Amino acid sequence: MPVTRAVLPVAGLGTRFLPLTKAVPKELLPIVDRPCLEYVIAEAVAAGITDVVLVTSRGKGAVEDYFDRAPALEATLEAAGKLALLGEVRRVASLARVVCVRQDHMRGLGHAVLCAEHAVGDEDFVVILADDIVDAEEPVVGQLLRVHAEEGGAVVALKNVPRERTNRYGICAGPMVRPDRMRIERMVEKPAPADAPSTLSIVGRYVLPPTIFELLRTTPPGAGGEIQLTDALARLPLAHGHVFSGAHFDTGNPVGLLEAQLHYSTRHPEYGAAARALCARYG
Ligand code: G1P
Repeated sequence: MPVTRAVLPVAGLGTRFLPLTKAVPKELLPIVDRPCLEYVIAEAVAAGITDVVLVTSRGKGAVEDYFDRAPALEATLEAAGKLALLGEVRRVASLARVVCVRQDHMRGLGHAVLCAEHAVGDEDFVVILADDIVDAEEPVVGQLLRVHAEEGGAVVALKNVPRERTNRYGICAGPMVRPDRMRIERMVEKPAPADAPSTLSIVGRYVLPPTIFELLRTTPPGAGGEIQLTDALARLPLAHGHVFSGAHFDTGNPVGLLEAQLHYSTRHPEYGAAARALCARYG
């Protein structure tokens, strides 16, 4: 059965962007002319996802509005004959069927995914962390779904990181069954560099079976006192890691967002030439 549902946890406070994130959800910070969140939803849609579950929290109303229809605005644009803009406004609202569920307490990524249980039901599904943006010829979600179709079980995206940074990520270890594919035997959330079983870190893309929900319900708080998705995943009978191809940006911090903005702006069909000229001037 094709995987058509994606869960995107977007309840986080965005502390690395305070005070900005007092008023603006970090997921709506722009990369050129579109918010971060639209990039990852477009990636999911390109891989066949039709239904998106946003796990939100208080103060994230603007995220819901962005992907909703806007009848008054659409009528105004139509009356003014601004049909190209009207098309853009409608396009965003019709990217996917979007529903929102609330995470009432910030108890960790595992808890956020558990909040989506009723909206997901009894199907395999994708989890996407909106901070991780990847520019790839084949969308990373599509790469993972290909591995999922071949191997079954859970699949996570993997990337090599310097050993001194293992304490920022979930780290996986196990035999490589192909150059880009690991049969995962160990997963540890944010291990100290000396304790990390490898340097292959999880990047925010997962394909999960619905059995993960029961495991999440019985996963005790782990690293940082939070219910960790990695800890529940480690208890699944079958999981593979896919070392993806593509340029990865962590837009959850100001420098990573800036790097994504430089990457996408210098390649943009409309603004690329101006962006490259600006880079040369300030370089
Ligand atoms: C989360 C996951 C971690 C993963 C990371 C990728 O951590 O818990 O396993 O490596 O996302 O971005 P967070 O960034 O929420 O601390």
